[in-house]
Amino acid sequence: MKKLIAAFLLLAGLTSVAQAGSLLRAGSAWTNQSGSTLYIQSISPSGLLTGAYINRAAGYRCQNTPYAVTGWVYGAAITFTTKWKNSTESCNSITAWTGFLYRGQIETMWQLVINGSSSTRQIIQGADTFKPASTKANKSLLIKK
Ligand code: BTN
Repeated sequence: MKKLIAAFLLLAGLTSVAQAGSLLRAGSAWTNQSGSTLYIQSISPSGLLTGAYINRAAGYRCQNTPYAVTGWVYGAAITFTTKWKNSTESCNSITAWTGFLYRGQIETMWQLVINGSSSTRQIIQGADTFKPASTKANKSLLIKK
């Protein structure tokens, strides 16, 4: 019986460690199916999020340098947005992602609007799934610019 309880506690401990690695929290980094990275720098007590985004999706501009991110976290729900302008490149556009954390992944839908659009038909949309990434690796990428 003691062994069974010990095994259960060990399993519960391992499970919580695994989950802790995939929470929406400051210092976490997430990579989507296109290789882009979301880095969450801070989440205030009220849920205000700051961070950075490195776009690596083929077919888009503004690649490989960090862009500022702001957003909100509300429990498992998350929204974040990027204006595609930094000291390296300006793409005259904004993307907003909305989604939720589910089973350790951030599932989102996004919309990209180009400054100067005149019809909602010009808004490009899609879906991104973000998986936990190595925080260290992505932090150093952010610093390199
Ligand atoms: C632009 O080309 O106007 C700016 C870059 C847009 C990149 C988009 S945002 C949604 C999708 N997910 C990514 O990681 N990159 C593309």
